[in-house]
Amino acid sequence: MEKEQPLLQSITLQDLKLSNRIVMAPMTRSRANNKDNAPTDIHAEYYQQRASAGLIITEGAQVSPRAVGYIYTPGIYAEAQVTGWKKVTEAVHQENGHIFIQLWHVGRISHPDFHKGELPLAPSAIKPEGVQVYTPDGFKDAITPKEMTKEDIYQTIEDFKNAAIKAKKAGFDGIEIHSSNGYLFHQFFVNSSNQRTDEYGGNDENKTRFFFEVLDAVKEVFPENRIGVRLNPSMHNIQGIIADEETIPTFEYIVKKLNNYNLSYLHLSEPFSDISDVDFLVTHIAQHFRPFYEGSLMINGGFDQETGNKIIEEGYADMVAYGKLFISNPDLPQRFAFNAPLTQWNQDTFYTQNTKGYIDYPPFEGELNEV
Ligand SMILES: Cc1cc2nc3c(=O)[nH]c(=O)nc-3n(C[C@H](O)[C@H](O)[C@H](O)COP(=O)(O)O)c2cc1C
Repeated sequence: MEKEQPLLQSITLQDLKLSNRIVMAPMTRSRANNKDNAPTDIHAEYYQQRASAGLIITEGAQVSPRAVGYIYTPGIYAEAQVTGWKKVTEAVHQENGHIFIQLWHVGRISHPDFHKGELPLAPSAIKPEGVQVYTPDGFKDAITPKEMTKEDIYQTIEDFKNAAIKAKKAGFDGIEIHSSNGYLFHQFFVNSSNQRTDEYGGNDENKTRFFFEVLDAVKEVFPENRIGVRLNPSMHNIQGIIADEETIPTFEYIVKKLNNYNLSYLHLSEPFSDISDVDFLVTHIAQHFRPFYEGSLMINGGFDQETGNKIIEEGYADMVAYGKLFISNPDLPQRFAFNAPLTQWNQDTFYTQNTKGYIDYPPFEGELNEV
């Protein structure tokens, strides 16, 4: 037998032992009940089918009604949502899986239609260019948001803390802060969306202050070693994020400062688009950021079995999060273990509101040949 693939080796994240290094990346699937934004029984089945992942990170779950930006996404602030999520965590734990919930606030990637006509919140009143929002009435252009007052900021910190309390009640093993992909915290990190002149804008300490205040608030609920953080340092020209020369240094500042926290993991994304012509961004995120971070590093974005094994072998990451491959291959770790063929995902059912393309991807049924 050949030597074990790095992806299939177990790993201990502080006090949590994962049976492999294949993580299910957080993915919005738009199947929540639209009445109370609660997960339903098909959520439990969907996540249970994927419980052989070393760790599941749920789809983004909004921390308050103010945090929402998409129709049919689940929340984690109300009792009905806790009830729905509880079924999910129980189903995953029944299979000896582990599951963290991703805590999400979209900031300006929203629309007044979600907020009884009020404007979405953001660091500054700057409209994200070229962004469309998926509202109850279909896609609409994003609008100029409201600059958050200090009260808005303090309230949002409380909202994250409340969401963490609800997540604990629902039985999650931990939480991931969604500080990535152009949403609220990312909007604070980048100059083009943060023009504040108070202590929440300007230098690195200020641009990241709100994020660290949230981290300090949620760690009163979950211990630091059950908190993960997601960052996407080289995102550019997507979701209204326009990076500049200061962006990578700001992310370096964040990553170094995260060493002061005894986190479960840091979750980084490789660039989502071609940035080869943008000289101030970084094309190999894991390689670049690994030396800055002392804890466990999870990497995501476009990996397959071979490149996932390779990046762990090279020492640039400890775990690999897979997104689309997990949609269409619920038993992804087994497929990797047996070199089984992979099923291609169907993009048309990523965000549709039924079981099709959600819980009907079967596990591999052919003959398995262990590698
Ligand atoms: C359908 C879909 C929904 C997604 N929703 C989220 C989300 O809720 N939170 C998040 O952080 N990333 C989200 N992402 C990004 C994925 O976590 C991941 O970064 C991306 O798919 C790239 O990884 P992959 O190449 O393995 O698919 C989503 C991606 C897809 C395809």
